[in-house]
Amino acid sequence: MVNVIGLGYIGLPTALMLAAHGVEVVGTDYNASLVETLCAGKTTFQEKGLDELFAEAVKKGVRFTTEYQVTDTYIISVPTPYDKFSKKIDAGFVVRAAEAVLKVCPDGATIVVESTVSPGTMDKFVRPVVEKSGKKLHLVHAPERIIPGNMVYELLHNNRTIGADDRATGEKIQKLYSSFCQGEIVVTDIRTAEMTKVVENTFRAVNIAFANELAKICRHDGMDVYEIIRICNMHPRVNVLQPGPGVGGHCISVDPWFLVGDYPELANVIRESMKTNDAMPAFVLERIDEIMRQNGMTDISRVGLYGLTYKENVDDCRESPTLQLLECQRKHLAQPLKVYDPWVQCDLVPNQYHDLDKFLADVDLVVIMVGHSEIREQMQKLNGKIVFDTRNVSDLPGVYHL
Ligand SMILES: NC(=O)c1ccc[n+]([C@@H]2O[C@H](COP(=O)([O-])OP(=O)(O)OC[C@H]3O[C@@H](n4cnc5c(N)ncnc54)[C@H](O)[C@@H]3O)[C@@H](O)[C@H]2O)c1
Repeated sequence: MVNVIGLGYIGLPTALMLAAHGVEVVGTDYNASLVETLCAGKTTFQEKGLDELFAEAVKKGVRFTTEYQVTDTYIISVPTPYDKFSKKIDAGFVVRAAEAVLKVCPDGATIVVESTVSPGTMDKFVRPVVEKSGKKLHLVHAPERIIPGNMVYELLHNNRTIGADDRATGEKIQKLYSSFCQGEIVVTDIRTAEMTKVVENTFRAVNIAFANELAKICRHDGMDVYEIIRICNMHPRVNVLQPGPGVGGHCISVDPWFLVGDYPELANVIRESMKTNDAMPAFVLERIDEIMRQNGMTDISRVGLYGLTYKENVDDCRESPTLQLLECQRKHLAQPLKVYDPWVQCDLVPNQYHDLDKFLADVDLVVIMVGHSEIREQMQKLNGKIVFDTRNVSDLPGVYHL
């Protein structure tokens, strides 16, 4: 039996996928209301294919509880934020989850940490608590690569990395993941597995920063960054990403900071890239100010942000560019802008709308912060509005860009 610890965006689909493929699974989360929701047969976030996967896993007997189980395999999937001051990983969640497991697990069990961790975390933080317990256990790091919005497909098809102390343990866990994973599963050592995951997200962050910097350079001299990137990408060895209003989520806006925190003298490109991405919401605010002046607008209450989530077609708002922008505004004591997002049902910020038409009726300038399918499909509703499209998804004439 596998006990999956942490039933959030990563732990829940992983537990369900294993269960749906015939593995006996118990999911444990210390959030009692989350467990209650799952036990009542409801999923806790929106994700393509998740409800169907949930139904299949329930049929196969998956269980949810707040109790840690006595078993031989644990998968830990808890948050790994970074310390905002030192930029180093805050491994506290992983350590506390490991300590909870250690209280119940038998000798010989394997603890798999799926959470993204900085290189050295398993040795520095997890191994010492295992050694202190006196139990003889196997440690594995099996980072997750799936993208919200396409998690179920990617769980099935992505290649994976398993880092273990010895080949036999690595292969045992490789076999477990191959119960559902059709991609290649590479077995390596723990430090390599830790570093590869962080490097993957850092690669994305640096390349997004490059596109964001190009957007600023092009804005400065009136060049069309999208046309320039389109033409550059016709070169066989060039693949520039798209600029945007900032970077959010629990991965690309977080993990590269681990390297800055651990290697402050060495991680210079990475530090500057993260700063570039983090500065984008303020750049969007400056553009809003410019566009308002160009259109003779003075009333900030007639400006609305479309989108609160960190990317399109998901309900995850963690570290989202819109939240960063609103925070930036708050620091300047400005009246918060109106906001609407079809994926966010709860009231998260002031001046938030839950109806697109009502939102549009109350604003003259619409800032597209997220390219949800909803707005792509109903772009004509923005006819007659001033539109500032930070995602380059609108084909309306006269749209403003970054
Ligand atoms: N969200 C993503 O897109 C994504 C993608 C790849 C990797 N990751 C990594 O996966 C890890 C988990 O991220 P997430 O987005 O699923 O986080 P999350 O916040 O959605 O879920 C974490 C869950 O763990 C639970 N939890 C925390 N400590 C616990 C403990 N001691 N015992 C029991 N439950 C506990 C919380 O209640 C929560 O439900 C992070 O390291 C993240 O970097 C996330």
